[in-house]
Amino acid sequence: MSAKEAIHITDVAPRDGLQNQAVDVGTEGKLRLIELLVEAGLRSIEVTSFVSPKAVPQMADAAELAAQVQARFAALRTSVLVPNLKGLERAHAAGAKEIAVVLSATETMNRKNINMGLDQATEVSEQTLAAARALGLRTRAYVAVAFDCPFEGETPLDEVLRLSARMHAAAADEIVIADTIGSASPGQVKARMAALRGVVPIERLAVHLHDTRGMGVANAWAALEAGVRRFDASVGGIGGCPFAPGAAGNVATEDLVLMAERSGFSTGISLAGLLAAVDFAQGALRKPLGGRAITWLRRQRDKDTQDNTRRLA
Ligand code: COA
Ligand code: ZN
Repeated sequence: MSAKEAIHITDVAPRDGLQNQAVDVGTEGKLRLIELLVEAGLRSIEVTSFVSPKAVPQMADAAELAAQVQARFAALRTSVLVPNLKGLERAHAAGAKEIAVVLSATETMNRKNINMGLDQATEVSEQTLAAARALGLRTRAYVAVAFDCPFEGETPLDEVLRLSARMHAAAADEIVIADTIGSASPGQVKARMAALRGVVPIERLAVHLHDTRGMGVANAWAALEAGVRRFDASVGGIGGCPFAPGAAGNVATEDLVLMAERSGFSTGISLAGLLAAVDFAQGALRKPLGGRAITWLRRQRDKDTQDNTRRLA
């Protein structure tokens, strides 16, 4: 029997998930969530963002958190989001080894998110990538609102291709095509990924999906079929950009893992471990969490526990 093909998942819950929550879980709460994700088998986590604390107060502890995560989980690929050179400087000072720049594919989304126009945001992203490489850091480049923009409607594919090619030319290790508001459909994902393969080598492409319209897992499957093997997801489906109206949570890590494993791919991630992380996040954020499969997954866990108890009795 041939070995299962691996897919790579980055959990973005501590950054994308927690940047928009009313309840502050504190640095200790974030560390515990990250610890549970590592225990579940995640090897790559986006832990925080070095942005203006006025823009996103939930990420004000970025330096302390990033330093603690690097010290405690040496084998983990710890990514941090930086919107500009100042963010890179702060991240580097905190010992970060991997950064992500965020370029939106429309004029208005860049202005709302990082207070720059599209041209300036592109140049700043390129400068930040070059500076990060010079420091020896691994780099990710988000191309956000790559399907639809909450302000400008459908994003022209040509723009997504042009900006992805620019990020590739700027030597980003990974180019993350983001459905920021979760409006994409599997047909669109299939078509856009086929076009993107023409400008960025497939092994450098990742997708970052949100589940606003219930199509997150179907979109992930479309990306898989198109050859993509790198995915962002958020445990419990926590997430949503505070500057993109209407954005719901990311595709849930547990849904993505279940789908991929059931379809013959290996993720290296334990569903039981993810459920422990969802339970913790639920308690910390004081609201029900979990992806589409959460009820079934919990029922399976309860059943397994009962079976084990019976066997032991
Ligand atoms: N981290 C912390 N502070 C920063 C910073 C960073 N990366 N970049 C700029 N600042 C500070 C400046 O030092 C300045 O501080 P001061 O008022 O004490 O002098 C202040 O922010 C304004 O600087 P300026 O360069 O004029 O920035 P801005 O007001 O145009 O804001 C961003 C630009 C990018 C800093 C801000 O829009 C931001 O942080 N956006 C984050 C968006 C986000 O996280 N979105 C969700 C994830 S995609
Ligand atoms: Zn997102």
